[in-house]
Amino acid sequence: MSQNQALALEPQPAHVLIGQSAHAQRLRTFASQAARVRHSVLLLGETGSGKDLVAKMIHSQKTRSGQFVLVNCAAIPEALFESELFGHGKGAFTGAQESKPGLFETAEHGTIFLNEIGELPSAMQAKLLEALENGNYRRVGEVTGKTIKTRIIAATNVNIKKALSEGKMRSDLYHRINVLPMTVPPLRERREDIPDLANYFLRQEDDAKTIAPETMAVFRKYEWPGNVRELKNTVIRAVFNSNGEPSIGPEHVRPHLKEEPPQGNENWVQRLVPNSQEKFPTFGAVTQAAEREYLKEVLTRTGGNVKKAAQLAGTCYRKLLLEVQKHNLRDLVRELRNPYSE
Ligand SMILES: Nc1ncnc2c1ncn2[C@@H]1O[C@H](COP(=O)(O)OP(=O)(O)OP(=O)(O)O)[C@@H](O)[C@H]1O
Ligand SMILES: [Mg+2]
Repeated sequence: MSQNQALALEPQPAHVLIGQSAHAQRLRTFASQAARVRHSVLLLGETGSGKDLVAKMIHSQKTRSGQFVLVNCAAIPEALFESELFGHGKGAFTGAQESKPGLFETAEHGTIFLNEIGELPSAMQAKLLEALENGNYRRVGEVTGKTIKTRIIAATNVNIKKALSEGKMRSDLYHRINVLPMTVPPLRERREDIPDLANYFLRQEDDAKTIAPETMAVFRKYEWPGNVRELKNTVIRAVFNSNGEPSIGPEHVRPHLKEEPPQGNENWVQRLVPNSQEKFPTFGAVTQAAEREYLKEVLTRTGGNVKKAAQLAGTCYRKLLLEVQKHNLRDLVRELRNPYSE
């Protein structure tokens, strides 16, 4: 099993959900109530809103002994799905020299977190549903069934209603896992949490620095399409940019965040086609520049996560990766993923 497909993680000792808004309080209450029962949980919400965090809180508050196993449903190749999830017996297929437990077994008495379940191809959804309906599964190549003894948490950041109507999400699987649903609201719907969150992320980086009130005002106004992850990355970058200064000013968070939302297409076009330019730029040059700016924006908002950027841009990972390469933005991706690498 490759590292990027699934990780057996022991959650950090404390998963703290910061915020005093009614939404934040509702999420904390939900996590502690859900931890007390064994029903499936379905976490919905935009990218970066905190679904992983809520899943880990549910797991870490339970009294059961097992592990928290993260399954990235979007990354498991179809051919390996069953052996990854359910395990395989010795000699089940070429190369299966030993029998191996699957992720459901690894998560026994713990939690299996089916992340990005909305991205699972339909055939795999059917296999997963069958196991969940029966409450058991078989290792590939074995005949004896094994009982599912794990708590199931699924999450998705796709619009589930749309995925259902388009047939991308099977409605039978959806109804099977949608026992305890919770939507983690976007950050722009709980702006009162922004100062607490920003200060929390700041303290993790540098507890001597402060955030200037003007900067906090910019934070409070901004739309945060990448939600808490974007805020966290912005604070990390701002600490980095303000090296040696006691306070984070608005200049340290720009140009990534703009105080005012763009005024419409006119400004955008005027920036790319300035009046003063002697030689009128060609259509090709302008569209290239616009594409590059657009890519920089989505990458910045997702902290350099190309997969999430593809989701935000409504395209597929492969296509966006090709664009990133075409526009020579691989260095930007690296820098965004590790703000300290420069
Ligand atoms: N309320 C919060 N308090 C503290 N940290 C938070 C909070 N919400 C989110 N975070 C942090 O923000 C980052 C993004 O959150 P998380 O990974 O849970 O988002 P997500 O909803 O799972 O996103 P995606 O759909 O992209 O997987 C994480 O580092 C997480 O710990
Ligand atoms: Mg997540």
